[in-house]
Amino acid sequence: MNILILGSGGREHAIAWKIKQSPLCKKLYIAPGNAGTGLCGENININPTDFIKTGQFVKEKKIDILVVGPEEPLVKGIADYFSNNEELKNTAVIGPDSYSAKLEGSKDFAKSFMNKYKIPTSKYKSFNNETLDEGLEFLRSLNPPYVLKADGLAAGKGVLICKTLQEAQSYLKKMINERMFGSASDCVVIEEYLNGTELSVFIATDGENYIQLPEAKDYKRIGEGETGPNTGGMGCVSPVPTANKPFMEKVRKRIIEPTIEGLINENFDYKGFLFFGLMNVNGEPYVIEYNVRLGDPEAEVILPRIDSDFVQLLKHISNKTLNQYKVEIRKDFAATIMLASEGYPGKYEKGLDINNADSIKNSIVFYAGVKQQNDTLKTSGGRVMAITSLDSSLEKAVSKSISNAEIIDFKGKYYRKDIGNDLIQ
Ligand code: AMP
Ligand code: GLY
Repeated sequence: MNILILGSGGREHAIAWKIKQSPLCKKLYIAPGNAGTGLCGENININPTDFIKTGQFVKEKKIDILVVGPEEPLVKGIADYFSNNEELKNTAVIGPDSYSAKLEGSKDFAKSFMNKYKIPTSKYKSFNNETLDEGLEFLRSLNPPYVLKADGLAAGKGVLICKTLQEAQSYLKKMINERMFGSASDCVVIEEYLNGTELSVFIATDGENYIQLPEAKDYKRIGEGETGPNTGGMGCVSPVPTANKPFMEKVRKRIIEPTIEGLINENFDYKGFLFFGLMNVNGEPYVIEYNVRLGDPEAEVILPRIDSDFVQLLKHISNKTLNQYKVEIRKDFAATIMLASEGYPGKYEKGLDINNADSIKNSIVFYAGVKQQNDTLKTSGGRVMAITSLDSSLEKAVSKSISNAEIIDFKGKYYRKDIGNDLIQ
């Protein structure tokens, strides 16, 4: 089969790495990809939101499966573009249509879906330009901290957690009146703060059946001990020991199954991955957000734990036969540590030489912000590479990744040394 992956991060390198292992994969392309995906297949210079060029390429190269990595092309309707085109409608698109992708693309839409299907989530209300005064008043009725969310996609930056009422009111005005996140904050969801620990849960679904994939814990803040500003994710582990059987049973019964029931009831055209961002509050799961894709860096620990052929999984998603598929998961622990550029998530320099990345033997190095220039690797993003290790204990997996994080070298390299520490007894 010929397969095209859209995206250019560590997640897409992990997807490419996994797909490449399948004997079913004949030719693999990644658009636009990065230096890491270039090791697994052929990178092509197409922007994932350029549907016309993507469609032309798919026709020309007789692509059988299109795997959409990031959310933006999904929310903008790439699956609809394919299903509405005579020559493209037989390509298997892994990713939901734009209406279903609103589960990620609109926080207000996701919240009302959860309420309709009685899926546990924090209480909320949404406000816009016409109801700003009510929003300011509503904030008065809540206890701090205050959670303000831009309704639309805001490159992962649209959530503000404010300690004081004044700060929250001031940001609400900035979001709505001054369009702090552009049109994404024309509508703002204000919700109750949930105090607990976060967990990323994943399923693959064909819209009717689902299979559960390994769960993961993402370490989102830049500083050790979860301090400082939020990032795209500085490290990840899987499995998560606190996600024990009774907890995961609640997740299945109260969250995954009602969500699938909702997809069916609402006639959603959903074929792909669904990511539940959960908060564990004293043993009770709540949904913080839905994402309509795999996570990054979650994919970098989940995919190495899957033993089964990934292309088979994609075929079953597309053929709506996931009920006939069983995924084999390795018992090993996986840990990934993200090497970041100095200054990230603020300003940082690009184009710095990376040394020793190819000398790592006992970990998998997934490239994120890495460019190949002649024979050298250069940094090209804030998150540069994810070093994933598998081992029989979390401690061993983390320590392998840390040893290798020390070997890879570029100016100003930064990484967290405490990934997984909270879970290691
Ligand atoms: P989101 O983009 O919805 O995942 O939000 C980004 C981050 O904000 C989450 O990963 C949480 O750390 C935090 N967050 C979001 N919603 C809440 C909430 N209701 N209570 C506490 N923290 C939250
Ligand atoms: N790691 C969180 C995300 O991919 O949204």
